[in-house]
Amino acid sequence: MQEMDYGLFRRRVMQAAGIDLGCYKENQMKRRLTAALTRSGHASLFDYWQAMEAEPALLRDFVDFVTINVSSFFRNREKYDELAGSVLPGLLKARRSLKIWSAGCSTGQEPYSIAIILSEHTPGVRHRIIGTDINASALRLAREAVYTRDDVKEVKPELVQKYFTVDGDKLRLKDPVRQMVEFRPHNLLADSYEQDCDLILCRNVMIYFTDEAKARVFRGFHASLRPGGVLFIGGTETIMAAPELGFELISPFFYRKRDPAA
Ligand SMILES: C[S@@+](CC[C@H](N)C(=O)[O-])C[C@H]1O[C@@H](n2cnc3c(N)ncnc32)[C@H](O)[C@@H]1O
Repeated sequence: MQEMDYGLFRRRVMQAAGIDLGCYKENQMKRRLTAALTRSGHASLFDYWQAMEAEPALLRDFVDFVTINVSSFFRNREKYDELAGSVLPGLLKARRSLKIWSAGCSTGQEPYSIAIILSEHTPGVRHRIIGTDINASALRLAREAVYTRDDVKEVKPELVQKYFTVDGDKLRLKDPVRQMVEFRPHNLLADSYEQDCDLILCRNVMIYFTDEAKARVFRGFHASLRPGGVLFIGGTETIMAAPELGFELISPFFYRKRDPAA
């Protein structure tokens, strides 16, 4: 059996799929890789790689597996309450129509949660909501917008009734809200970033990144935001050295880009 080391595997994945596994925490990625290898039934990393080279669908499966896609609507409800109750009204004071980017949006629950909030708060106003992810399969499901009861467990029952159609044991997001979000593939570690954003959500994505990769992404988000724009991060995350990067903490998980004119 031929051996293949992790470094070589990483380089091959980078060449074939454009994903730099070196930007993800090594121990976590190796655990995930071992699980993927066991699941695939191949005896060694070398065999697994050869199978992926012969069958591109296997490489896509691997990427799907290592980029964990768990999500739900209004994940950490109290944070969305704060977003709806104070952060968004503050942004809407400055601009009537907002540009919002959900980076690492997985299967769409996060940008659609924002679309629901904005439909409630600013009916009839057109906003731009963009959902991006590295994982093409997740984006396909995001565009379909069909969910389970579990996905909507944190959504108020009256909102479930208003914005979803029940279809057997599935819930289909109604078209007016579905059409508020545009989805596109994007690799946070390689592609150029959206510009002039009022709000960026990047939650439970960077927990897998190395500190160096995180710092790079935070600098990118800072450049993407308008002065006074807000970055909303996940419940277990913090921005290291936020003031040096030009962010001020509004409250845990919400950071504002400093506005020199304010
Ligand atoms: C756990 S999900 C988070 C989904 C959503 N933000 C939430 O909090 O519910 C993490 C997502 O990050 C995406 N991701 C991982 N690496 C990425 C990268 N380099 N660029 C863009 N998205 C990435 C994964 O594909 C996955 O969909």
